[in-house]
Amino acid sequence: MVSLAATDFLMTATLTVLFGLLTCPTDCRLWQENAKPKMEVNHEEYKRTSHQFSGNGSSPDYFRLLELDGQSLLVGARNLIYNISLPLLQENQKIEWPSSPDTIKICLEKGKSSDECQNYVRVLIKKSHGDLLVCGTNAYSPMCRDYQLNPLEGVYQAGKDVSGVGSCPYDPRHNSTATFADGHLYAATVSDFAAQDALIRRTSLRTSKDNIFLNEPNFVGSFALGDFVYFFFRENAVEFLNCGKATYSRVARVCKNDRGGIDRRLLGNNWSSFLKTRLNCSAPGDQPFQFDELQSISGLMEGNYNGVPSRVVYGVFTTPVNSIAGSAVCVFNVADMDRAFDGRFKEQRTINQAWLPVSNAEVPEPRPGQCVNDSQTLPDQVLKFAKDHTIMNDNVALMYGRPVLIYTSLSVKYTAIAIAPQVKTVDDRYYDVVFVGTDDGRIIKTVNLDIDNKTPEEPVVIEEIEVLRSGKQPVTSLKVVGNQVIAVFTNEIHAMPVERCGLMRSCRECVALRDPHCAWMDGQCQFQDPTSSNVVWPKNGHGPIQNVRLGRDERCPAVETTSYPSQSNYVGTVIKHKQRDESNEVPEYQTSNVELGNVYREETLAVAVVLTLVFSLAVGFAIGYLVSRYRQTSFKESSLSETSDYSYTHSHPHPGVVDARPTDYRSEPIYAPPEFPPTLKTPINVVLNMQRNTLKSFGAADSKPIPPSKKVYL
Ligand SMILES: *[C@@H]1O[C@H](CO)[C@@H](O)[C@H](O)[C@H]1NC(C)=O
Ligand SMILES: *[C@@H]1O[C@H](CO)[C@@H](O)[C@H](O)[C@H]1NC(C)=O
Ligand SMILES: *[C@@H]1O[C@H](CO)[C@@H](O)[C@H](O)[C@H]1NC(C)=O
Ligand SMILES: *[C@@H]1O[C@H](CO)[C@@H](O)[C@H](O)[C@H]1NC(C)=O
Ligand SMILES: *[C@@H]1O[C@H](CO)[C@@H](O)[C@H](O)[C@H]1NC(C)=O
Ligand SMILES: *[C@@H]1O[C@H](CO)[C@@H](O)[C@H](O)[C@H]1NC(C)=O
Repeated sequence: MVSLAATDFLMTATLTVLFGLLTCPTDCRLWQENAKPKMEVNHEEYKRTSHQFSGNGSSPDYFRLLELDGQSLLVGARNLIYNISLPLLQENQKIEWPSSPDTIKICLEKGKSSDECQNYVRVLIKKSHGDLLVCGTNAYSPMCRDYQLNPLEGVYQAGKDVSGVGSCPYDPRHNSTATFADGHLYAATVSDFAAQDALIRRTSLRTSKDNIFLNEPNFVGSFALGDFVYFFFRENAVEFLNCGKATYSRVARVCKNDRGGIDRRLLGNNWSSFLKTRLNCSAPGDQPFQFDELQSISGLMEGNYNGVPSRVVYGVFTTPVNSIAGSAVCVFNVADMDRAFDGRFKEQRTINQAWLPVSNAEVPEPRPGQCVNDSQTLPDQVLKFAKDHTIMNDNVALMYGRPVLIYTSLSVKYTAIAIAPQVKTVDDRYYDVVFVGTDDGRIIKTVNLDIDNKTPEEPVVIEEIEVLRSGKQPVTSLKVVGNQVIAVFTNEIHAMPVERCGLMRSCRECVALRDPHCAWMDGQCQFQDPTSSNVVWPKNGHGPIQNVRLGRDERCPAVETTSYPSQSNYVGTVIKHKQRDESNEVPEYQTSNVELGNVYREETLAVAVVLTLVFSLAVGFAIGYLVSRYRQTSFKESSLSETSDYSYTHSHPHPGVVDARPTDYRSEPIYAPPEFPPTLKTPINVVLNMQRNTLKSFGAADSKPIPPSKKVYL
């Protein structure tokens, strides 16, 4: 415990100093603690409603989710393509495609391991008539193959093989992407054994090898839209001239009708329309804090954003590997990307000189990057300019001027993202529900509250779900399919429902969750299925109660007599920070806990706040005394939440706040008051939360930027 507390302190101090120096001359509001999840779903509870697919167990599979086929997933694996059903994740079919013994032998001779010398399927395109184009690493000798569907037997027959170099990576772990548009495969990968020659390729066209095109990129996603195909990646920034290296996140764009330049000198067989620019995912402040390393994108979302029909892309970004783990979810409007591509170019006149914007007068016509009927008829000067100018001067600004969610910790980072787009609420608003995967096997559910509200909102973390229990691994990709969230790991695929509304047992809890999927009706917190559209709810007060915007609703009874299910059918300690209890004494404090934390935060009536403060301190003190006594016993037997990097702990009470706990409450004599049921295993945080939240709503959190806690957020 001593070492835990010491780590805790060290981390707090480090974060305070670092972020303080970086970002906090005057505007410190940003760097607050991480948003506390409203519901923490542990592994046991997760398992009750989820399904899992494990493939071959004995060797690594490097699963990659490649396509959706109705209610089936097509997954690339080791020497296999799986066709897996949803939501049970049962194998419908599989296509086997191992490498030939000769290919494996050559691969082994080149010094690769026997696990590497297998055929990992990385690209799968569903063409017309159900035919498939599939590409695999083929023991470091990439190969593509057509599969024709035999309509009588319903099985796939292998067609001809063609080289997959430039379509598929050599290494199954390489961060590549591919998309299919207008009958062509657009691949972003590497075309050599040593993974040095990165390229974006369509049949005979590729990116020039000059490093102003691509510079050691890690590709994370791509899609086609209108006349263009967009690629998202992070790479070494050539325009960064200070000592050391910098990674920037980028979006690049090529024209679908590009035919390349004229000859070796002028982009012959190379894209003539390639442009790229930087994605600016940063936390605002006097010196904005950058999240420079794009890890994953959501794919293209369409909907109303700030009241305007728009197409947007969500991304998760992190800080560099060797720094404190900071992650952020940022949203970008495709129109802003196009605006940057239509803006000024950037150039470096001579080596070692700074990169400067090019005046528009110097840009030849037709402007490079615009889609022309035949790029081979472009004047030489245009191709010459295109060959030397790929970087735009303007970065793409993030929507809302700040990330949707920020997370800092010593080690844990976000790795993947998926969106349930435009989920309709009971009051006819539309929100994007955001799922984020972490590198320690968790999924976080949040909601983009900015979507219809321009005033700054504090981020809300609805759920944090412990998907993997032991040997935690990163979520490599996430996808929302219907009402299921699919999480892909190296050797496992998981599917879980998008919601766990039913775990909320009172109207207030249900509404305070602010989950667009959940509403209180008929005495239950119920799932509002967005896929069964056209549900018209009665508006006469008997309809479902939901309020995503505020997290409270006056239709919820002031004092609720919640009936919690009996311990026998209620599995485990699902919600760690809220007490689960059959006795009728505690729910009052539970509701005020929820309310203070999530509702009164926005309340501007100082009187109400002061009253609440006084009330909660008084009640908190009384209850806290009992609780602190009780905690001795529960700490003894429960696995402490303090060991979790996510958990919300209070090792250092706020100065000036009456703390009902004894200073070293763990060494207090053990005494369990009879009122508390002895089966209760969860540490009770009612008092602590009340104090903290009251304090926050009173504005104390603002004057003290980094509350001493294990986690600090921005
Ligand atoms: C698992 O992989 C091993 C080695 O590639 C193979 O021999 C075995 O048949 C596979 N098992 C299954 C169930 O696919
Ligand atoms: C996947 O399996 C489903 C169900 O058996 C089937 O309808 C679908 O055609 C299969 N897809 C592919 C690409 O094999
Ligand atoms: C791909 O990206 C992941 C996550 O950022 C990273 O850990 C990994 O090293 C990358 N793979 C390669 C081959 O660079
Ligand atoms: C264009 O691509 C070819 C390969 O297709 C390459 O040999 C050539 O050097 C490239 N041209 C330029 C200007 O980079
Ligand atoms: C990113 O955006 C912020 C806020 O608009 C701005 O202050 C900052 O300079 C931008 N950073 C970059 C690298 O463009
Ligand atoms: C491009 O082609 C379209 C039809 O193919 C034609 O209508 C248009 O005038 C052409 N544009 C140019 C600039 O040649």
